[in-house]
Amino acid sequence: MAVVPAVAEETFLSDVHLYTPFFQTSKNNVDFTSYLSYFKNNVCHEYMKLANATTGNMSETSGFHFLFCFFFFTRLQLIGFDQVWRGALLLSDFLVYNEERFNKCIALELGAGLGLCSIVLGRVAKKVFCTDLRENILRCCQNNITANSHLFKYGYDVVAVRKFDWLASGLPTGEGDFCWTKEDQEVLKNATVVLAADVIYDDSLTDAFIGTFLRLMEANKPITLLLTIERRLNFTLEELAVTSPAYNYFLSRIKELETKEQRLSTRKLDIDFPNYLQYERVKELELWEIKPA
Ligand SMILES: C[S@@+](CC[C@H](N)C(=O)[O-])C[C@H]1O[C@@H](n2cnc3c(N)ncnc32)[C@H](O)[C@@H]1O
Repeated sequence: MAVVPAVAEETFLSDVHLYTPFFQTSKNNVDFTSYLSYFKNNVCHEYMKLANATTGNMSETSGFHFLFCFFFFTRLQLIGFDQVWRGALLLSDFLVYNEERFNKCIALELGAGLGLCSIVLGRVAKKVFCTDLRENILRCCQNNITANSHLFKYGYDVVAVRKFDWLASGLPTGEGDFCWTKEDQEVLKNATVVLAADVIYDDSLTDAFIGTFLRLMEANKPITLLLTIERRLNFTLEELAVTSPAYNYFLSRIKELETKEQRLSTRKLDIDFPNYLQYERVKELELWEIKPA
């Protein structure tokens, strides 16, 4: 039997965090102090210390402070799953800027990762279902949400972490962790906002994601998808040029659903609202609003 030598597993760092150990800004009378910490061997470093620090004096500030934990380094097969992506930072800025619009809304976040946008929206929403696929990610997400539940205006349990797989035929129900109760499913029917950050990177997942939104649209008529995308650029042999194939595929699908099938109305929104969180608003970042036609 051949012996396979043990190879030290390589880890990768998300460039979002390279120069921003803390997101800390104050703009337009909104003070943001988010304490970033990181998971190592599944233990969140300095978690409790920072969580305690964030619970004091919240109501005395004009803005808010939140604690957000993420994986600083990630293994190759988990890239895309356990870190925070620039799309989530852009969408969070948009949610803060439009806080009044979202007051008391019922929302669903798809592919939430570690839950940043759900936390930001949870401050003013009546209910947010923060969803993703894998249980280990959902657990970290739950930790982030619990650590920030004092920020939620309409109750500490406003944000519920649930499993939602775009490729599955239904929602997981039953007794297990992150399953949907009957009551959740009833509340979900009244959701008017769907959030998704940085979920466009693989064509078959894009199909599954769009299919999920179309199904939600059938159940909830007045529903709006707010989707952020960071166009990933690649040199392709097919086109002999630097292009963004995953983005182009997404565009072709939504344009088809808009013009040919007349099911969707789509709009790319201006992203000139303030940069509350610290990150580089690169030119590849976009925000889309997608509604039923
Ligand atoms: C690039 S990450 C973005 C995470 C987060 N929205 C952010 O911007 O930080 C893509 C997310 O989509 C989720 N995802 C991938 N396939 C999925 C599926 N079939 N159903 C539900 N979520 C999925 C992944 O688990 C991951 O959290």
